[in-house]
Amino acid sequence: MPRRKETRPSSARHEPRQEPRQESGRRAFAWRERGADTPGGKPTAPARQRQEREPERETPLFPLPELSAGELPGWMREGAFTGYLAALGFLPELMAELDFEGPAGAGHLVYGDLVFAKRERPAAWAQNIWRQARLLPAPSIGQAAKALHAMQRNWWPHPVRLARRAALVAEKLPKVSARPQVFGEPAPCAPLGSFTLWDETALIAAVDCASPYPDGQVCFVEDHVSAPSRAYLKLWEALTLLGALPKRGELCLDLGSCPGGWTWVLASLGASVFSVDRAPIEASIAAMPGVEYCQGSGFGLDPRTAGGPGARVDWLCSDMACYPARLYELVTRWLEADACRNFVCTLKCQGETDFATIAAFAAIPGSRVLHLAHNKHELTWALIR
Ligand SMILES: C[S@@+](CC[C@H](N)C(=O)[O-])C[C@H]1O[C@@H](n2cnc3c(N)ncnc32)[C@H](O)[C@@H]1O
Repeated sequence: MPRRKETRPSSARHEPRQEPRQESGRRAFAWRERGADTPGGKPTAPARQRQEREPERETPLFPLPELSAGELPGWMREGAFTGYLAALGFLPELMAELDFEGPAGAGHLVYGDLVFAKRERPAAWAQNIWRQARLLPAPSIGQAAKALHAMQRNWWPHPVRLARRAALVAEKLPKVSARPQVFGEPAPCAPLGSFTLWDETALIAAVDCASPYPDGQVCFVEDHVSAPSRAYLKLWEALTLLGALPKRGELCLDLGSCPGGWTWVLASLGASVFSVDRAPIEASIAAMPGVEYCQGSGFGLDPRTAGGPGARVDWLCSDMACYPARLYELVTRWLEADACRNFVCTLKCQGETDFATIAAFAAIPGSRVLHLAHNKHELTWALIR
C-alpha cells in the first residue's frame, strides 16, 4: 500500500476547554477545513510537544465520506462497532494491519484518521481504540453534550469535520484535567471517552477507549537537563503504559544505548545497567552509579552467560537500529534460554513495514506490540512477567 501521511489535530492532554489547545487543534485541521484561522495562542507545553512531533502536513489518505448519518452502513447505525485511531502518519500501516483496502468496504469505513469497523481486534498501529462505539443523534450542541454527559464524565473530542462545533460541545462538558504525566506516577485510571461529530445531526462516541490519554497521546513533564537524548521518552512511555518499572538493583541490559537516554532512565531508577552500543555513550551517563558500558554489538551477547553464573537478566531493553527480523531472532534466543524476565524492544520499521515479523512478535504469548506516542516509524514490543 503506498505511504501517504495524514494529519491529526494536536490534542493536548485532558483539557478540552483551554484556549491555546483549541488553537493548536484548529491549526491541525488545515486540511480538513481549508482556510481555517492561523493559531494565535501560545501553545501549552503538551501541545507544543505534539506540534514538535507532527510530521509534515499532507493531504488526507482518503476524502471524507459524503454520507449523511442516515446513509451510514447498517452495522454503524444499528449497533456497537470499533473505532481505530491511526497513529499519526500511519493510517496506511493501520489499514494494512487490519486487512482493509480503500476508504470503505463491507465491514469498514475510513473517516479522516479514524477507521470504523464491525470487528474489534488488536491493532498496533492504532494510537487509540474506541471500543463499543455508537452513532448517536446530536441535533444541537446542547443535546450532543447532554447525550455524552449521560454516559460518563470525561470526554475527549476528536474532530474530523465540524471542529468548532466539537469544541463547543466539549465546552459544555466537565473540564478534564490537563496535567502532563510525571514519570513514575501511574497512568490515569479515570475512564476517558472519545467522540467525533459525523455531521450536524449525529456524533460517534465511545465510552471505553484503550488509552487513558487523549487520542492516546502521552505528554510528560520532560527532563531537559539530565537526559542525553529525547529517546528516553519512549522508555518512559512504555514503562508507564505497561505499569511496570525496573526495581532498584535489578539487572537491565540496554542494547543500542548510545547516546544514553534509556541507560539514564534505568540507572535513575536504581537498576544495574549493562549498556551496550557500537558507539560510545555520553561520559556522564557511563559514569552514573550502577552503569557498566561495553562498546560492541548487542547481538554478540550470549544469553546463557550474560547475567552472570546461573543468574537471569531482569530486563532486556533494546532500541538498536536493526531490522525487526534480526531482533526477533535475538529475542527468540533469549526466550528459549529462559535468560530474561522482561523485555522492552523497539521494532524499527526501516523502509517497508515488515508486517510478518511484527505479527510474529505479537504472537509471543503474554506480550504486546504498541505504537507509542513517542514512536516514529517503529513499534514497541514488550513482555512483562
Ligand atoms: C536510536 S539509537 C538508540 C538511542 C538510545 N536508546 C538512547 O536512549 O539514547 C540506536 C542505536 O543503535 C545502535 N546499534 C545499531 N546496531 C547495533 C548493534 N548491533 N549493537 C549495538 N548497538 C547497535 C546505534 O549505534 C545507535 O546508537
